Amino acid sequence: MLPVAELHMHLEGSLEAETLVTLAQRNRISLPSYDPDVLRARYVFDDLQSFLDVYYEHIAVVRTAEDFYDLARAYLTRASAAGVRRAEMFVDLQSHTQRGIAPAAVFEGVSAAIADAESESGISGAVILSFLRDLGPEAAAATLSAALPFRDSFIGVGLDSAEVGYPPSLFEAVYRRAAAEGLHRVAHAGEEGGPDYVWEALDVLGVERIDHGNRAMEDPALVARLRDDRIPLTVCPLSNRALKTGPADLADHILPAMLAEDLLVSIHSDDPAYFGGYVDDNIAAIRDALALDDAQLAQLARNSFASSFLPEEQRSARIAEIDRFAGATESADVRG
Ligand code: HPA
Ligand code: ZN
Repeated sequence: MLPVAELHMHLEGSLEAETLVTLAQRNRISLPSYDPDVLRARYVFDDLQSFLDVYYEHIAVVRTAEDFYDLARAYLTRASAAGVRRAEMFVDLQSHTQRGIAPAAVFEGVSAAIADAESESGISGAVILSFLRDLGPEAAAATLSAALPFRDSFIGVGLDSAEVGYPPSLFEAVYRRAAAEGLHRVAHAGEEGGPDYVWEALDVLGVERIDHGNRAMEDPALVARLRDDRIPLTVCPLSNRALKTGPADLADHILPAMLAEDLLVSIHSDDPAYFGGYVDDNIAAIRDALALDDAQLAQLARNSFASSFLPEEQRSARIAEIDRFAGATESADVRG
């Protein structure tokens, strides 16, 4: 299996319906149904907000360090089986602190899961603290302050949740503080918001990666900027289809246009429990819809490591591994 880095997934979005039921029972929290299939049948969305409503409702079942451990451990086990060798996971800390959960419970549970998953399967994991943009910049600043005692438990900051009406520029001060702390910076932009949000994320927040970025393709000057500065775009095909931020048919997805523009794109799952699959499912769906060949799949995998925050020597080692894998596949084809 092709090794990949998963750089755009929300830990809270990996809460499978079965785990939702288990944790609801463990914590005595009521659910509309205790049948995972009935719960899953609700996963039909009109847009980002209709998804977020369900996502925030369900996360109420995750309360203790043990719950966070179980959630992260389950994701890392599944991701490892999908070929993920590096996972940079968004954690929406505010969706927990708003419910009275202590940051320590979140960070302790997730950090322990990362350590155990790493010793079990060799997967490397990291956390990106993601601010909920619809709660505004003061809440983001307070969240960074609450998280800094756990500075060793996360590597960067991100920006997610409802996009339109909450432009990146609102968060300039908190991103400046994050940069001063030596944290990496990424932001969701151009998912529902326009190219202007992507410009702001780059120019005002100084982000190193754009999450989604699909609508950047509407602005040729922005496309040139992304290409020239090798700014990664983390693209999530099944999410785009589920949230109607992309075409209903993946055969019409924007990915080929991004590749044709020589952008540094890679494929990720976003919220795998809600959108129909993990990173392997996303790669298979887009491969089948667009008839991508092995060389293109290998390039997407190389891009994922090139876009990661792994130390340079580990990035190069993973890319070399893909080169060997791609070479072996080619010679197998020749023999076959
Ligand atoms: N977009 C914005 N915020 C999110 C998403 C998303 O796809 N998933 C979880 N939070
Ligand atoms: Zn996302």
